Amino acid sequence: MLVTQQPVLRRFWYPVIPMSALETGPQAFTLLKTPLVLWLNESGQPCAVLDRCCHRSAQLSKGVVCNGHIRCPYHGWEFDGSGTCVKVPQLTDNFIPPTYKVEGFRCQERYGYVWVALADPLTDIPEIPEVADPRFRQIHQFYEVWKCAGLRLMENSFDNAHPHFVHHQSFGVISEPVPPDLDSLEELEYGLRATSVLPVFNSDLQKQNLRMSEDRTVRILEGTWFMPFGRKLKITYPNGLIHIIFTAATPIDDQTSQVVQFCLRNDSEAEVSGKLPDSDR
Ligand code: FES
Repeated sequence: MLVTQQPVLRRFWYPVIPMSALETGPQAFTLLKTPLVLWLNESGQPCAVLDRCCHRSAQLSKGVVCNGHIRCPYHGWEFDGSGTCVKVPQLTDNFIPPTYKVEGFRCQERYGYVWVALADPLTDIPEIPEVADPRFRQIHQFYEVWKCAGLRLMENSFDNAHPHFVHHQSFGVISEPVPPDLDSLEELEYGLRATSVLPVFNSDLQKQNLRMSEDRTVRILEGTWFMPFGRKLKITYPNGLIHIIFTAATPIDDQTSQVVQFCLRNDSEAEVSGKLPDSDR
């Protein structure tokens, strides 16, 4: 599937960049081949408009933020978060024709990331109630560009046949390759939810991470797919430890995805003496 050829994909929210990245100034991001400039307005709220000035097509992302507006690097025109031109330094009568504007997009912060929808959203940003639950702590995991289609990544999340091989150096049991059956499969309005129980190995490192001494354990899995390119994987261990991994494959273009991943755990850093290996991500 060529994501840029599917207009409906413009009607979803995508995490595009960590909020912290905007603290140093405007940033460029390409979403579904649409160039965006992102910045923080005077209230600290993120804004997203087309990264192309309506005057002489300069890249607004190469400009600066002035009084919460993005200022074009070429002739200094300023635009607000809706894309309306609010200042033209060359005009002395201060009348700015309403046609002086660039396209603006829906933009908001959630879970520490800037989310953008290019067109009227069909559904809300995925709900992850544990982010606001004081029993959980949120850990940013990675923000990387992958040469991978979003649906491939989503499919992987519900593929119980791969851990035995891909993760055999950490938790996969390669000698028992038959995947567990699903215990439930629920269709959601914009996605699905599946549950299963996956037997796994406990390496020495995992014993530290999980605070479990057994050589074998199980992962009680609850996977939720948020159409089109978001998933939440909740892993519950028999000792009550819960790991929640949220992953988004934000579509940059037809070849690449911006992978955003963070996790939530119901423990504290002080309780964990080991580190999670890369192969366990
Ligand atoms: S190109 Fe942006 S102000 Fe002229």
